[in-house]
Order: sequence, then structure tokens, then C-alpha cells
Amino acid sequence: MTEKDKKYFTEKLLQWNALENTRQMPWKGENDPYKIWLSEIILQQTRVEQGWNYYNRFIKTFSTIEKLANAPEQKVFKLWEGLGYYTRCKNLVATAKFIAVEKQGKFPETYEEILRLKGVGPYTAAAIASFAFNLPHAVVDGNVFRVLARFFGIDTATDSTTGRKAFAALAQQLLEKIKPGIYNQAIMDFGAVICKPKNPLCSSCPLNKKCVALKTGLVSQLPVKEGKLIKKERWLYYFVLKFEGKVYVRKRAGKDIWENLYEFILLEKENAVTETLLKKSAFLKTADNIIVSKAYRQQLTHQTIHGRFIYAEIKSPFLPTGYTAVGLKQLKKLPFPKFITAWLAENNPLTFDR
Ligand code: ADE
Repeated sequence: MTEKDKKYFTEKLLQWNALENTRQMPWKGENDPYKIWLSEIILQQTRVEQGWNYYNRFIKTFSTIEKLANAPEQKVFKLWEGLGYYTRCKNLVATAKFIAVEKQGKFPETYEEILRLKGVGPYTAAAIASFAFNLPHAVVDGNVFRVLARFFGIDTATDSTTGRKAFAALAQQLLEKIKPGIYNQAIMDFGAVICKPKNPLCSSCPLNKKCVALKTGLVSQLPVKEGKLIKKERWLYYFVLKFEGKVYVRKRAGKDIWENLYEFILLEKENAVTETLLKKSAFLKTADNIIVSKAYRQQLTHQTIHGRFIYAEIKSPFLPTGYTAVGLKQLKKLPFPKFITAWLAENNPLTFDR
């Protein structure tokens, strides 16, 4: 991924947030650290919809951290009832008392100090520090793993040590440092509303032009958790179009298989395409002598490549962007992936005529 891609990501995300994000939640835009802390503890193991009313009841009952600290524990636990994971409630009470007594009711204002509070881990500390104090600490939660893994096409396991470190470092680079709180809330909302775990809204996603997972058909397989190896299937259809003794090729670029190798005009699909449909392709509008090859297959470490070659002679020049026309002499010098040389070995596109 390039610096340009990272800049694009941050800019598009903030733009989406400013213009399209209509998600509302009672703690959103809040900058009272007590209220943010409370909401984040509730949301650690609880879905937003479920946590919503609990949060409102807590704030109504205990409008300040002192009130929470001075309340009978039983009353606090009663209010927590139904949320589960009661250690959170125990820590909530302990931290409220600690801040009320040891800190004279003043909530800690640095990331490091916030991180030392009971029940607060790196994620919650970053959320509080950025929402309440606008400190530049990126949150890394399930939403962030998913959005980053998909957009940048990262298949490192999110629950591995390397993965955790890599995602945290990337998240921190992407963070908009002037309004980190707004950025952090935006990426979480984006993960919840657009880049959802199931049925993400890719077709209307404002980042879809550069999303690696979308381009490579990996959306449903990312992010990856340890032990789950992705086995991807890809269908590559190569149009070998001959015009005036030359065929069109291009050099493969980007972080994908076969980088820097050459290929013919590519139509990539997530599923198999029938011969009838292939013959209807726009590439073949003025074509003669169309020959569709048998199916080819190549097994790579993490993916299986399937495909066919569609040879045709075209009557008028046709040059999709990025491709150049080459003759036999040049063609023989170009490096192609094995998938293509296998076909070339049996079908010299420049000499066979029917
Ligand atoms: N999950 C945890 N914190 C959240 C927040 N501030 N907004 C939405 N979902 C969250």
C-alpha cells in the first residue's frame, strides 16, 4: 500500500462521515470523559442496540462519577443486570471510587493514565483519550480490523501477535491527527453501517474504487483469524485479440499474483462464465474466427486459478487502456505466468489461423 492509498482512505472516510454518516448514538459527540468511559465499558462486550438503554439509565441515575462512586454497590449491579460480564461492573465501581477519592473526581487526561484504570485496555483507552481529550490515539476494534483488512487487502490473522501489531501501526498511521475523536468514531461507524461483517454495502461504498478485497473477490473472507487459511478461487478469462499481426498485452501491476509478468486482455470473475456468455463479450464486437480454449487450472499456495483463453481476430483496432500491441518477436521475449505459457505452448496466437 502506498502513502497515496492511505491518504485516500482517511480523506474518503472523513468525507463519508461528514456528508453521509447519519448514525446516532447517545454517547456520540460527547466529550465528558465519565460518560465516554461508561459507554465504552458497556460496549466492550455488548452490542450498541442492547447497550443504548443501559447507558441512558446509568446517566440518568448517576449523572456524575461522584454519584456513581457514592452509590450502594447493589444499586449499581441492579442497573447492570442483564448485561452480563459482571467483572465490567465490578471494575466500573472500583474505578469510579478511585477517581472520586484519589483524583478528587478529576478523570485522568493522558492515554497512559487512562490505560492504567481497571477494566481499561488499549482500545478503550484510545477511545476515551480521543473522544474526550482529542488525543491522537487510534482505536483498533473488530470494526477497524475488518475495514482495514478489506480495504488494504491484509490477510495477516488479526488475532496473531504480528497481525495485532501490524493493524495497530497501520491504524495509527491512518488516524487524522487534528480530529482524532471524529476519525475514530467515523471508522467504527463505517464498519457498522457500510463495511459490515455480512452483506457489506460495497456497491455504494465511497471507498470501493480502491478496495483491494473488492477488486480481488476477498470481501467475504477478510479479515482472517488464526487457523483459518483462505482458499480463494479465481476465474481469469484472457482475450487474445489479434489485429494486423499483433496481439494486446499488458504488464501486471499491484499487490497481486504475477506482479510484473505479462498477460492478455483480462476479464476476471468470481465465478465461472459460460462459453456462450464469453462469446457475447464487448471485446468481440468486430471479431472473426473466435476460438474458446479448454479450461485451464493452476494451483497456487492460497488460491486456485481457473480460466480460459478466447482467441479472436478483430477487424478494427481495439485498445483497452493499459494494453499495448506486440508482434511475435516481442511476445516471445515477454515473461508470462505459467498459466498463460501453458496455453501459449499449445496455441501460438500469431501463427494459427483458421
Ligand atoms: N463500540 C465501542 N465503542 C463504540 C462507539 N463509540 N461507537 C460505536 N460502537 C462502539
